[in-house]
Amino acid sequence: MFAPSFTFLVLLATSAHAADIYVSPTGTGSGTITAPYGSIQSAVNAAKAGDTIHLRAGTYKPSSNIQITKSGTSGAPITLRSYESEAVVLDGENLPGTPYGLDESLPNGERGILHIQNANYWKFYNLELINGPYGVYSRDASHNYYERLSTHDNYESGFQMQGTASNNTIIYLDSYLNRDPRKNGESADGFALKEGSGTGNSLRNSRLWNNVDDGLDLWLFESPVTIEEVYSWGNGFNRWGFSDFEGDGNGFKLGGGGSDDTIVPAAHVVRNSIAWGNAKKGFIDNGNTGAMTLERNTAWNNGDSGFVFKSSGSSLKSNVAAVNVGSQVNLISSVKASGNSWDVGGTWANSTFKSLDATTLQGARGSDGRIKASDFLLPTSGNAIGATTREDV
Ligand SMILES: *[C@@H]1O[C@H](CO)[C@@H](O)[C@H](O)[C@H]1NC(C)=O
Ligand SMILES: *[C@@H]1O[C@H](CO)[C@@H](O)[C@H](O)[C@H]1NC(C)=O
Repeated sequence: MFAPSFTFLVLLATSAHAADIYVSPTGTGSGTITAPYGSIQSAVNAAKAGDTIHLRAGTYKPSSNIQITKSGTSGAPITLRSYESEAVVLDGENLPGTPYGLDESLPNGERGILHIQNANYWKFYNLELINGPYGVYSRDASHNYYERLSTHDNYESGFQMQGTASNNTIIYLDSYLNRDPRKNGESADGFALKEGSGTGNSLRNSRLWNNVDDGLDLWLFESPVTIEEVYSWGNGFNRWGFSDFEGDGNGFKLGGGGSDDTIVPAAHVVRNSIAWGNAKKGFIDNGNTGAMTLERNTAWNNGDSGFVFKSSGSSLKSNVAAVNVGSQVNLISSVKASGNSWDVGGTWANSTFKSLDATTLQGARGSDGRIKASDFLLPTSGNAIGATTREDV
């Protein structure tokens, strides 16, 4: 006969059961699947380590932003997700700061439809965040995981992390058409990890497009960030009729900022990523003196130069710079370059590529969340040079 041990009984009595908490845009209940909450904040307030908050389909329009200021644990994270694969939109239009007037300030606590601060061990899945004072805004938050978020048409950056930030993973992000009327386009990026430090952060298999400032911006972030399979295009154009337009328009702005003596070098790693059709540069160190690693990236048809590394002894290997309107590359002599298009020579023109058609890359993701593979910007030579969606590098 089964005789439960004393230890087993104590464990049973003390281990909290992970709860499933439900929210619906029309809910009036207390968080069960049959009587969901109507407010995401109520669910966050009720959640404990290990719990999962399920958002039922529809559009949520909160009048104050969702404050996430508690933590899960490494073994029992808190999850905020769409229920199964239902379509969930968090619309920030009713929040303060959408937008504030030109040159007005946006208080920290109001930033983000999701404002995540001092909150660790969260997981977020399959959410669309629009019209917010930032879509996702995270400050001093670590060990968080974001999968399949879409952040677009926000009044500041789509997705921003700041402050002390370690071991955050962002995968399958789509961030587009974000703009900041408050600053005439000076700083709304697709993805920004800025003004802070902490190791182990990564952005993967993500698309950043048509944002007013840069696609990706690591301004004043002082630790290495890993960027893989990130596609950045169409950033830095004045699509909103701003008067004194301030948008920068780089595909990947890899750190730097401030006067020389305030720049802390950060050895970012960028692999298998593409910048094209941006208003200015494809990939730029922006004054970051860190020894970065760039492998198998492609800068094509940008409005200015392809790769600009004038401050750093970075390592550039097997990248392609072609058909950019400015110089293909602008490199300081301490850059270690090998196997790049400009090293191997030959013709690098539109006719060098199997396909100039980005439709598949820009289209629906696969059911696993990944961007679908295509021949976009693969060299006709078949050589392993430049970015490819067809295989891991
Ligand atoms: C980040 O994760 C790695 C691997 O799990 C771990 O070694 C490291 O201590 C973590 N960093 C922080 C700041 O917790
Ligand atoms: C290359 O192709 C792109 C896309 O069709 C086009 O915008 C660009 O003008 C072409 N550039 C050259 C130099 O042919």
